[in-house]
Amino acid sequence: MMRAAGCLIAVIWLAASSAEEGRVPLTQSQQAGGTPISLSTLDRLEDMAWWPTKGAASRNEYAGTAECAKCHFATAASQRLTEMARASTRSMDAETLDGHKRLTFQQLPYRYEILRSGDQVLGSVRDERSSISRPLLFAFGKGVVGHTYIYKVAGNWFESRVSYYAELGDLDLTTGHAHLPPAELERALGRLLEPEEAQRCFGCHTTVSTTAHHFDPEQSIAGVTCEACHGPGLKHVQAMKTGHIDQGKKSILNPRSLDAASSVDFCGACHRTFGDVVQMNVNGVATVRFQPFRLEESRCWGRTNGQLTCVTCHNPHEPLIHDIASYDQICLRCHSQSSSSSAGKGHRTVACSVGKADCVGCHMPKVQIPGMHHAFTDHWIRIAKNGVPYPN
Ligand code: HEC
Ligand code: HEC
Ligand code: HEC
Ligand code: HEC
Ligand code: HEC
Ligand code: HEC
Ligand code: HEC
Repeated sequence: MMRAAGCLIAVIWLAASSAEEGRVPLTQSQQAGGTPISLSTLDRLEDMAWWPTKGAASRNEYAGTAECAKCHFATAASQRLTEMARASTRSMDAETLDGHKRLTFQQLPYRYEILRSGDQVLGSVRDERSSISRPLLFAFGKGVVGHTYIYKVAGNWFESRVSYYAELGDLDLTTGHAHLPPAELERALGRLLEPEEAQRCFGCHTTVSTTAHHFDPEQSIAGVTCEACHGPGLKHVQAMKTGHIDQGKKSILNPRSLDAASSVDFCGACHRTFGDVVQMNVNGVATVRFQPFRLEESRCWGRTNGQLTCVTCHNPHEPLIHDIASYDQICLRCHSQSSSSSAGKGHRTVACSVGKADCVGCHMPKVQIPGMHHAFTDHWIRIAKNGVPYPN
């Protein structure tokens, strides 16, 4: 009860502050329609028996992706090709090194090198006097944007100070690391991750890295696979194998059953929910990385009781579709001249006076984020005008 009251206050505050700034009070329509609102991931983790990144279940409750593939073979075959499934790899499997003998970078006094050596990938840094070299255990990121390497020294996890960026085809400083060269060699190679931070990294980029609240990344499955989203599946598998279909369905989460705000929060467990972004206190162009936050700023969301969720446009089991024309039919469900009656129950929608196709090309522009060497898609669907300051 106390928690529910706390949430309500937070919502009213949000609605009020966004109205003040002339924004659409995005939670209002949802409250009127009785649809639950966006929560922070911490709240979801506390409230739900299963939620992505929750590490409560023990290891022997998980079945493994190979098991899921036995019955859901088509889903498993396409999911394997997604960037999410490749959100991390064991460094040895990382494709980035395939075309390169070694990757190098220098920021004097330091010279960096990453290369394959036997069955390891080594990261090294040297200055005039000495050098150190560490086996890089994991590569985080899909390689389309880039790779950041994670390694371990004396039981502590580190994040490499240099990352591979696909757009450069080479190394550069990792986003978020201080630009000034650190004083010592060990710091020049990487940044110490506090245990909780390391646990969070692995929670979003791997499957089953934390079980029974114990963090053990060396046991994890690389990438975001079936049970990272659907939760531990052994009970489901056993029930299905013995023909107990109803029981089997009840023992696994089908996110299709979630209401709109919860569905977006579900993806937001890793992509960051609206509530998470408010708590993180980031603003400006950096928020473009947090698609749930941007989408929920859109009128298309706020004025339709959230009829437009992440899975309306993205099938989480299939690779991201880059052909922008293929998104038109979704926009036209609500914005076609002739469909004003079929467009969501009673929602006033308007058609475009400028374009008839490739809607997202103009209304979901790609935005370069400083330090990332990559343009991200702005999920705040809006009239984006050149020369107008970036909306926050
Ligand atoms: C022995 C076969 C079998 C295995 C193995 C199996 N499933 Fe299923 N699964 C099924 C069947 C049958 C259904 C019901 C399909 C239907 O209703 O059309 C189902 C349904 C589901 C659903 C939807 C549940 C619902 O409420 O509608 C999800 C999610 C799911 N499976 C995920 C998984 C995951 C994740 C794994 C691996 C941990 C897995 N399955 C392994 C047979 C299996
Ligand atoms: C367990 C964490 C997790 C959850 C839950 C999650 N994602 Fe992701 N997702 C990631 C990570 C990590 C990446 C980045 C992969 C990379 O670039 O290495 C990603 C990337 C993506 C991409 C970009 C793929 C590309 O080709 O660039 C899309 C689209 C996406 N996610 C959609 C979704 C949707 C839709 C949901 C909800 C159904 C969702 N994600 C839930 C972790 C997650
Ligand atoms: C709350 C979940 C979450 C946490 C914690 C997290 N990430 Fe990510 N990470 C994502 C998602 C989602 C993406 C894809 C969207 C984006 O790039 O913003 C991503 C993208 C990346 C990328 C971009 C590369 C690419 O190809 O897209 C790298 C590298 C990365 N993360 C490394 C890390 C490291 C290292 C840590 C820990 C210090 C970490 N992440 C913590 C969710 C998370
Ligand atoms: C990034 C998160 C994510 C991952 C990874 C993921 N799923 Fe799903 N899955 C979802 C979501 C979200 C839905 C609901 C989709 C919707 O509402 O249309 C879903 C639905 C399903 C369903 C039910 C289909 C239906 O029509 O109701 C099955 C079965 C399923 N997933 C199996 C799998 C299997 C098997 C894997 C691994 C190969 C997997 N999923 C990986 C997020 C995920
Ligand atoms: C109206 C359709 C639509 C909705 C809804 C939508 N997306 Fe996207 N998304 C796109 C398009 C279009 C792209 C860019 C595809 C391309 O050109 O590569 C994209 C790209 C992405 C990417 C790749 C990184 C980037 O910035 O380009 C991620 C991650 C992503 N979406 C996650 C999400 C999540 C999470 C949600 C729910 C909050 C969501 N999307 C909702 C249309 C949508
Ligand atoms: C579920 C219905 C729905 C879908 C799907 C949808 N929209 Fe909207 N959209 C709306 C509503 C409702 C409004 C608000 C109209 C108003 O305020 O009069 C809106 C507003 C807009 C606006 C004006 C925004 C502003 O701030 O002035 C643009 C531009 C827009 N939509 C483009 C798109 C594009 C592009 C797509 C596909 C990527 C899309 N919409 C998908 C319902 C939808
Ligand atoms: C070439 C860029 C471009 C393309 C392509 C485009 N639009 Fe637009 N759209 C605009 C501009 C610019 C405006 C603002 C027009 C104005 O202010 O008079 C606009 C306005 C809108 C509005 C708000 C209308 C209003 O009266 O408030 C909606 C909704 C919209 N577009 C939807 C779409 C949809 C759906 C598509 C795809 C079928 C699309 N747009 C394709 C540039 C584009």
